[in-house]
Amino acid sequence: MTVTIVGSQLGDEGKGALVDLWGGDADVVVRYQGGDNAGHTVVEGGEEYALSLVPSGAVRGKVGVLGNGCVVNPRTLFDELETLRERGLDPDVRVAERAHVILPYHRRLDSVEEETKAESGDEVGTTGRGIGPTYEDKAGRRGVRVGDLLDPAVLRDRLEYVVPRKRAAIEEVYGLEAGEECDVGALHEEFAEFGRRLREEGMTVDCSAFLHERRAAGDAVMFEGAQGTLIDVDHGSYPYVTSSNPTAGGAAVGSGVGPTVTGRGEVVGVVKAYLSRVGEGPMPTELDGDRREEALAGDIREKGSEFGTVTGRPRRIGWLDVPMLRHAARTNGYTGVAVNHVDVLAGLDELRVGHAYELDGEELRTVPSTTERWAECEPVLRELEPWPAVDWAAVAESGYDALPDAAADYLEYLEAQIDTPVYAVGVGPDRERTVVRHDPWA
Ligand code: IMP
Repeated sequence: MTVTIVGSQLGDEGKGALVDLWGGDADVVVRYQGGDNAGHTVVEGGEEYALSLVPSGAVRGKVGVLGNGCVVNPRTLFDELETLRERGLDPDVRVAERAHVILPYHRRLDSVEEETKAESGDEVGTTGRGIGPTYEDKAGRRGVRVGDLLDPAVLRDRLEYVVPRKRAAIEEVYGLEAGEECDVGALHEEFAEFGRRLREEGMTVDCSAFLHERRAAGDAVMFEGAQGTLIDVDHGSYPYVTSSNPTAGGAAVGSGVGPTVTGRGEVVGVVKAYLSRVGEGPMPTELDGDRREEALAGDIREKGSEFGTVTGRPRRIGWLDVPMLRHAARTNGYTGVAVNHVDVLAGLDELRVGHAYELDGEELRTVPSTTERWAECEPVLRELEPWPAVDWAAVAESGYDALPDAAADYLEYLEAQIDTPVYAVGVGPDRERTVVRHDPWA
């Protein structure tokens, strides 16, 4: 049995709390895409752990796997592992030998390209972790894989081919000076040492074979998606996207588990009850029209702690965008959704949702394929009844029927629009504050 958890919007939907809650019944938690661009905070035993790469299950004594679809920065990996060990944990993390490695020149190129694009206002607003340049090298067949770190001679060959090309890009395309990030000798020394540690600690695996064996032994496997559907490189608002596939299909490709396996399991989309976006790109339901809207966005931002986990940037805020969720439900084939942050919307004077878009005088029920067209969409807003602030701890304890009526109506409206049942409702930041209506493992 597998459960795949996917972000339905633009990332930051609160996937961590669900992975944390339902990961408790998994034996293995697998990340299948992305890298250290994904900030998540895990609360365990009253302790808070901020992670960006290590799968959150590793904090809870599960086997955490970074699948072949991930891009791995070994500096971050070992830093996070060390921090967890210093705090008395013994995380079991395996890394796919087919996963690609983020090298220092990827980070440099990420920031250099963003700075260049910013001159014409075209920056993506990346997390600066080198994610895009690493996936570029993967697709360009010049990447360094985790398996290459294990063999110093192979690693040297790879670096000798690729590094001069990176140096040329920095110096000749961008007219900047290349530094230590393009020193083959220094890179080789540092990354061969990472390879030695990975080998010594028995951390590398053939991900597909490893997961096959674990499943054959009866283990329950959870796939932990990072980022969200609308920043998927294929299904998101290109070019304002990350460079991987957070959508459910990515779980199969990014781990080497067949789609017939992940498809027989549950695919749960995580939805935030409103919308937030970090970085650039269209957002038709954004609350930025006038001072009143900006004040409302400010309130929601404060109440929902909407500041980037990795970068600290304040997130843009908007009403729930339903066309986006129709797109996500279809693209991912959800069996259920979990709706988070329902408590954050409590006590508002007015509550709206973006029910559809208007474009060229026509009503659209889903997201247009091009970002330029999407940016031209005007939201068709619907007014729904706001719900009062209540004792959310008591609601979490009593169950779904204890939700305020207006909140239950909001969820019912959503279920009807995306033709998907609500499995769980988040009414507070940690996993205890989740109202579970259906357990995907059951
Ligand atoms: P990158 O993944 O660093 O290349 O950033 C590309 C885009 O994805 C930017 O708009 C980022 O803000 C966004 N992004 C990347 N990771 C996350 C995340 O974990 N949550 C929300 N947005 C993200």
